[in-house]
Amino acid sequence: MQLIFYLVIIVLQFSAIAADYYKTKPNFVQTCLKSDPDFEDCSKEAVQQLFNALGPGLPEIDLPPIDPLNIPKIRILQGDGPVNVNAALDNVVVTGFGRTEVLLSQVDGETYNFYTRVRVPKIRIEGTYDLKGKILLIPLVGSGLCWFEPSNMTIDIVSDVKLYEKDDLPFFNVTKVHVKYNIGGLKLHMSNLFDGISSLEDSTNAYLNANWRPVSESLRPILSKTIEDILLGFMQQIFHNLPGNFMIGDIKTNLINKKRN
Ligand SMILES: *[C@@H]1O[C@H](CO)[C@@H](O)[C@H](O)[C@H]1NC(C)=O
Ligand SMILES: *[C@@H]1O[C@H](CO)[C@@H](O)[C@H](O)[C@H]1NC(C)=O
Repeated sequence: MQLIFYLVIIVLQFSAIAADYYKTKPNFVQTCLKSDPDFEDCSKEAVQQLFNALGPGLPEIDLPPIDPLNIPKIRILQGDGPVNVNAALDNVVVTGFGRTEVLLSQVDGETYNFYTRVRVPKIRIEGTYDLKGKILLIPLVGSGLCWFEPSNMTIDIVSDVKLYEKDDLPFFNVTKVHVKYNIGGLKLHMSNLFDGISSLEDSTNAYLNANWRPVSESLRPILSKTIEDILLGFMQQIFHNLPGNFMIGDIKTNLINKKRN
């Protein structure tokens, strides 16, 4: 069955004006050397420290907390397939990313693309939903409060990176983020399904929970895109404000294609 994915728009409020970048290395940044045979271990620890610092946010570079993470709106429009949904999630609060555990961190020596694997033991997504569509071929209509709890999520993140120069310092321009994830379980609840016909609401929630694996598979395109958009926003904000040589001490600046105009 063909799944056609139309659109997810997330509105995350990042400051449009670039914040002043870090002139001195902040203490949550650990510098690693690509030439070091133990680069991967060092880099894993460095990325872990970065995640730990991101939990409460970095107001000095206009970065909001990632735990809890507030997302004003997620719009979903997806058709033709096991999921056929027109949905909106508003006032979304995501908790759990503060306990992200970095499992692996690699950096390509030529392109500087990042490859990162993380694990998040428990995530809770809460918000107000408005839904009309089908999941697992069950027609669903309703609006109200909802929550989703994916557990043991492992995420493989490939970040496409371009180097550029600002004030004679190298910076990473994260241009694209590709995500693959797996979860160990999913619990969910949607209140006021079918406008509160409670027998239908209870049985539908029970059915969706009992069939969490196909439910989560059918939500995969939406969730992947959502995670990619969130990560891209955060990574761009971080790396436009954090000189690359703070992270990688022996970064090859000769790779920078200086564009003269
Ligand atoms: C979490 O998932 C990974 C693989 O995706 C698995 O190896 C690990 O045992 C799981 N951990 C728990 C606590 O379920
Ligand atoms: C980052 O890359 C994007 C896409 O290639 C480009 O449009 C943008 O101008 C780049 N930003 C900087 C600061 O180099």
